[in-house]
Amino acid sequence: MTIHIGAKPGDIAETVLMPGDPKRAKWVAQTFLDNPVLVNDVRGMLGFTGTWNGNRVTIHGSGMGMPSLSIYANELIRDYGAKTLIRIGSCGSMQSHVGLRDVILAQTASSVGTPSSSLFREMNFAPCADWALLSKAAQAADSSGTRYHVGGIYSSDTFYDERSDLTEQLTRHGTLAVEMETAELYTVAARHNARALTVLTVSDHLITGEELDSYAREQSFADMVEIALRAAF
Ligand code: HPA
Repeated sequence: MTIHIGAKPGDIAETVLMPGDPKRAKWVAQTFLDNPVLVNDVRGMLGFTGTWNGNRVTIHGSGMGMPSLSIYANELIRDYGAKTLIRIGSCGSMQSHVGLRDVILAQTASSVGTPSSSLFREMNFAPCADWALLSKAAQAADSSGTRYHVGGIYSSDTFYDERSDLTEQLTRHGTLAVEMETAELYTVAARHNARALTVLTVSDHLITGEELDSYAREQSFADMVEIALRAAF
């Protein structure tokens, strides 16, 4: 047990998929895993371990934002021996050619700062995805016929962003989409020699203002989970 995770030693698989929302973790476990078992519910942050195609996998919520994800990623890796962490989540498109329901494989993530930033003093660390996971996810997306993009994203600290000038610069520099967790996930994984990848579906569009309805959200979430699982094994 750790401060934030009630699982017993051995309850967590080496591969962990991390949606932001704990109820999504439950839905993914019930929809995709054989014999899912609840291994954590501290503070309502649900984690389940089961198997997918015979491979042991844990689905564990991260919460919203980098400070929350950082707590779970640190404890999963350092205390439970997780070796592969794949974030599955939603994002807002920042490019006109990136549409609703498209999948994004995050090669890197810009940020104003992460919970790890102070470690680097004046340095800007460049967080990056694990190449083997990224290339396998691209193959999985190719073979499923899903529209997808590989590139940089923006891990923001604010959902209700007052700094439109900042977003405009990132858009101008080709940033595909905004979410709130990946820069810290990649940094924590790098620090502890673990592998990490973020797979996202576009749930809203910053330029057009469009949003997915709840049915489309669930369907596109399922496509993304399949890609993440196929990347992992
Ligand atoms: N901003 C930040 N995070 C997000 C968004 C957004 O528009 N959509 C989904 N996650």
